[in-house]
Amino acid sequence: MASGRALRRVGHNPTGSLAIYILPTLATVVGITGVLTLGGDEQQGLAAGWFSFSQIKLVKQSHEALAVLMLLLVFCHLTGVVVESVLHKENLARSMLTGIKLADADTPAARPHAGVALLLLLITGLAGWWFYYAIDRQLDGQPGHVESVTDNEEPRVKFVGRQLPDNAQWRDECGSCHAVFYSALLPARSWQKIMAEQDQHFGTDLGLDAATSTAVLAFMTANSADQHNTEAAFKIEQSIPRNATPLRITETPYWLHKHQEIPAAEWGFDTGEKQEELRGLLQ
Ligand code: HEC
Repeated sequence: MASGRALRRVGHNPTGSLAIYILPTLATVVGITGVLTLGGDEQQGLAAGWFSFSQIKLVKQSHEALAVLMLLLVFCHLTGVVVESVLHKENLARSMLTGIKLADADTPAARPHAGVALLLLLITGLAGWWFYYAIDRQLDGQPGHVESVTDNEEPRVKFVGRQLPDNAQWRDECGSCHAVFYSALLPARSWQKIMAEQDQHFGTDLGLDAATSTAVLAFMTANSADQHNTEAAFKIEQSIPRNATPLRITETPYWLHKHQEIPAAEWGFDTGEKQEELRGLLQ
C-alpha cells in the first residue's frame, strides 16, 4: 500500500482477513474471562464461587487488557475500510450490505456459502435461546432473581451478596453505641488490638468481662478481612501494609480511596488530612 501499488481485492485484503479471525476469537475470550471475572470478583453469575478474589486478579487484568486490544483492532479495521474505500474509490461498507461488487471480467466468481451462513445463524440463535431460557430457568428461585422485568432500571439478575455469618452476642456488645461494623472490614490483628485496648476504646471503656471478650473476638477473627469472604474484605485486607494495624475501618487505604470523592463537609472531617495522617503513621 505504501508503494501505491496495492492490489484491489474483491474479498478482504490479507490484513483485513486476519481481523476476521482475530476479532471473533477475542470477543469469545473477552466474554469467557468476563463471566469468570464476574464469578470471582463479584461472586455472581454462572461462574460464581469458582475462583477466589485473589485467584481471579490475573483473569480480570487479562479481561480488561484484551477488551482494550479489541477496541484498538476494531479501530484499525475500520480505518482499513476507510483507506481501502478511498484508495480504490469504492464504498466497501455498502457492498457488505448489498453483496454486490464490481469486479474485472477475469475475476473468478465468489462461491456462495449458504450452508456456512445458515450454520452461523443457527449457532447464534441457539446461543441466544440458551442464554435467555436455560440460564434464566437455572436462576429461578435464587435470591435476587427478578421474575419479570417491568421496570427497565431493574437488572434481570440482581447482585445479592452471600449470606455472611452472624452472632447475637457480638451484635449486642458492639452495636449498642454505633452500627455494628462487620468483622470482614478489618483484619484479625486489628480486632485483637481493639479488644486488647478495650478500656480505651476511642475515649470510652467497653468494660466487657473476659468470657464475653473472648467470644466476641473469636467471632470477629473467624470472619475478619483476612478470610476474604467479601470483595470489600479482600480489597481492604490487600490495601493495608503488613506492618500496620489500623483501629478504624475509615483509616484503611481502600476505604479512604473508595470514599475520596465524598466532600469533606459530608463527613465532618477532611479525608485528605486523614490520608496524610495515615501516611505519616505508616512510615
Ligand atoms: C460504649 C460505646 C461503644 C461500644 C459498646 C463499642 N464502641 Fe466502637 N466506637 C465507640 C466510639 C465512641 C467510637 C469512635 C467514633 C468516632 O469517633 O468515629 C467507636 C469506633 C469504633 C470503630 C472505628 C470506626 C471507624 O472505622 O472509624 C470500630 C472499628 C469499633 N468502634 C469497633 C467496636 C467493636 C468491635 C465493638 C464491640 C466489641 C465496639 N466498637 C463497641 C464506642 C463504642
